[in-house]
Amino acid sequence: MEQHGNMLAIAGSPGSGKTTLAVKLAAEIAGKRKNVILVCGDPFVPSIPFLLPMEGEQEVSLGALLTAPALTQDQILRACVPVPGCEYASLLGYKLGENLMSYPKVTRERAVEFLVCLRHLADYVILDLTSVFEADVFSILAMEMADRVLRVGTSNLRGISYYRSHAGMLEGRADRGKYLNAIGNYKAGQEWESVAGQYGGAAFLFPYVAELEKQYDEGRLWEAMISREAPQFEKEVKKLLAEAFGLREARQSAGNPEKKKLVVRSPFVWKNKGEF
Ligand SMILES: Nc1ncnc2c1ncn2[C@@H]1O[C@H](COP(=O)(O)OP(=O)(O)O)[C@@H](O)[C@H]1O
Ligand SMILES: [Mg+2]
Repeated sequence: MEQHGNMLAIAGSPGSGKTTLAVKLAAEIAGKRKNVILVCGDPFVPSIPFLLPMEGEQEVSLGALLTAPALTQDQILRACVPVPGCEYASLLGYKLGENLMSYPKVTRERAVEFLVCLRHLADYVILDLTSVFEADVFSILAMEMADRVLRVGTSNLRGISYYRSHAGMLEGRADRGKYLNAIGNYKAGQEWESVAGQYGGAAFLFPYVAELEKQYDEGRLWEAMISREAPQFEKEVKKLLAEAFGLREARQSAGNPEKKKLVVRSPFVWKNKGEF
């Protein structure tokens, strides 16, 4: 039987749709009544303020967790921001107005400790990283420690330029088999096949969906999409969840006894797998 981890990191070029995709992946997982923590790891553009714009002041920042003198599971859980209407999903991230200079330097040790802890706190963890990962210890460690890393690129010369300047680092010391490639925010008419060739192939193609852009601008990415273009994007989301986590449609996993054990609790059902 295939073995899947529970932690997916998303890295790649700016504007390729990493954050958009991260939310849609988390929403799809939550829709399956599995707990998911989405870590909005980009310290250059904190995303909780625009992913949940109407919510009150976020209490604890990812920056505070990553630089705290000591870190406990409980501290992480208390820092999680629940997503209204999406009870199995929760966010961690930097706060409005912050940047990397707002905190002392994040150490490798603390980033590792945080990620180890996190893996045990939810069924699934999505790590939405910054494109400028060379400047962010957390993003580098997240790629190293994630079970799978999705590299998203745009299908234009800018995307290729980003990829060329980061490809070596993106592979790091890690096992190449854990990387998945995608083309994001793909617009009709763009030359995606030749670009995918430059990226060493792309297993996923996330199309541009006008409704998605509007949802993003209005802080409504957690809502379902209804436009005619949406199913193609959603199909790729499902395909990615199947590939990265082995998460498939209920129909396909009927008879899997694990699924039947599901206990629904509210508002957010935390999973603590115990020691870490
Ligand atoms: N598939 C898509 N369809 C429509 N717009 C998209 C899509 N992916 C990304 N965008 C838009 O591109 C911009 C950047 O997206 P974002 O997810 O923040 O990218 P990244 O996190 O990679 O920098 C946003 O305006 C977003 O609405
Ligand atoms: Mg982003």
